[in-house]
Amino acid sequence: MGQFSSIHPEVLIIGGGVIGLTIARELHRRGVGRIVIVEKGICGEESSWAAAGMLGPQAETDEPGNMLGLCVESRIAYPDFASSLFEETGIDIELDRSGTMCLAFSDDDVARLERRVSWQTAAGLNAAMITGAEARRAEPFISPEVVGSALFPDDWQVENRKLCKALRRYADLNGISVFENAEVSELINENGKIVGAKIGIDEIKSENTVLAAGAWTSLIKIGSFSAPVRMTPVRGQMIMFRTAKRSFEHVVYSPNGYLVPRNDGRILVGATSEDAGYVKENTDVAVRDLTRSAETIAPQLSGLKIADKWSGLRPRSADGLPVLGRLVGLGGLYFATGHYRNGILLAPRTGETIARAIVDGVDSSYFDVFGPDRFRAANANG
Ligand code: FAD
Ligand code: GLY
Repeated sequence: MGQFSSIHPEVLIIGGGVIGLTIARELHRRGVGRIVIVEKGICGEESSWAAAGMLGPQAETDEPGNMLGLCVESRIAYPDFASSLFEETGIDIELDRSGTMCLAFSDDDVARLERRVSWQTAAGLNAAMITGAEARRAEPFISPEVVGSALFPDDWQVENRKLCKALRRYADLNGISVFENAEVSELINENGKIVGAKIGIDEIKSENTVLAAGAWTSLIKIGSFSAPVRMTPVRGQMIMFRTAKRSFEHVVYSPNGYLVPRNDGRILVGATSEDAGYVKENTDVAVRDLTRSAETIAPQLSGLKIADKWSGLRPRSADGLPVLGRLVGLGGLYFATGHYRNGILLAPRTGETIARAIVDGVDSSYFDVFGPDRFRAANANG
């Protein structure tokens, strides 16, 4: 008998990134007693660690719709999420509500941002255009070439690495069992119900299973069941500068990249979007491009030494949208993956949605939109 054979959790969560950890916390807060997380590496050290921590649905969205709705709901949940986590764990996840600026360097940029501001304000969201001079008053280090900017006061940021630490501590403090360096190879499918997972030669039986394995989701076999969900890793490289004190108030986007200023003087610069399989590394070309992008936003950054660089794998589904919910005909299994560019932002709402479905049997209306069955329909039609 292996170490897992005697464990029978009510909920088994595969993947200890921000999504799996947040779901575990939400389940525990709703009274679930036996929760197990199985993580192939160390919790919170993959995409959730590599991220920039922006909570920026408005800055990254060119159209209204369900995805924006879900993102805005999750952003609204953040202040309570941050303060509860602080009370529960003593870790401040540094929710920063200074807002986000999207800079324009040309008339075309201005026109594009004006369109975005216009439909967003019509939809009741907080957004405004400001002039180049006003942008420089708000952020003195930005380039003299900036001719205008969109301002999104409700697009915030959080220290995602501290968020992962806080969620991990919550698990430790509340009896959530976490097994690290344990890789699930396959789910156990008994007559159309997932009843657990295989870990090496061992097995863990569970009443419910949540697949929160990020970019690796479709590498996990689901017995003989042919799951339609395909996940592609999209590599994001970032670099970081360090200054003595914080030099920017806002998160600052340009058409070629973004700067995320942290309280301690770090300036994160992101990010590439590359199809590079599961290879996490920094390339000279990307580091050069990111450096240029930072200097275009703020020329005074030129000459600063790169203090750190890293990369991570965003989980992208076939249509780029999250995969939340169940497959018809397969009991006991919930998908919570495919958060692509917005997993930090979407963590609170994802956690709540999945936990409510498991504990209260209430499926979110978002399951209709983001459920895994949409790919089955697409495959059949195509
Ligand atoms: P992960 O954090 O990757 O966690 C999945 C976990 O599952 C991993 O720890 C992995 O080891 C584990 N796992 C995989 N397979 C198995 C297995 N077989 N058995 C056991 N465990 C397994 N999002 C934002 O909201 N805002 C941002 O500003 C932002 N910036 C980003 C910048 C970059 C450069 C990158 C790369 C991403 C960014 N993202 C951002 C996206 C965000 O990081 C992801 O959407 C989010 O982290 C996904 O969380 P996750 O828990 O699904 O994935
Ligand atoms: N959301 C920012 C990124 O994925 O790079």
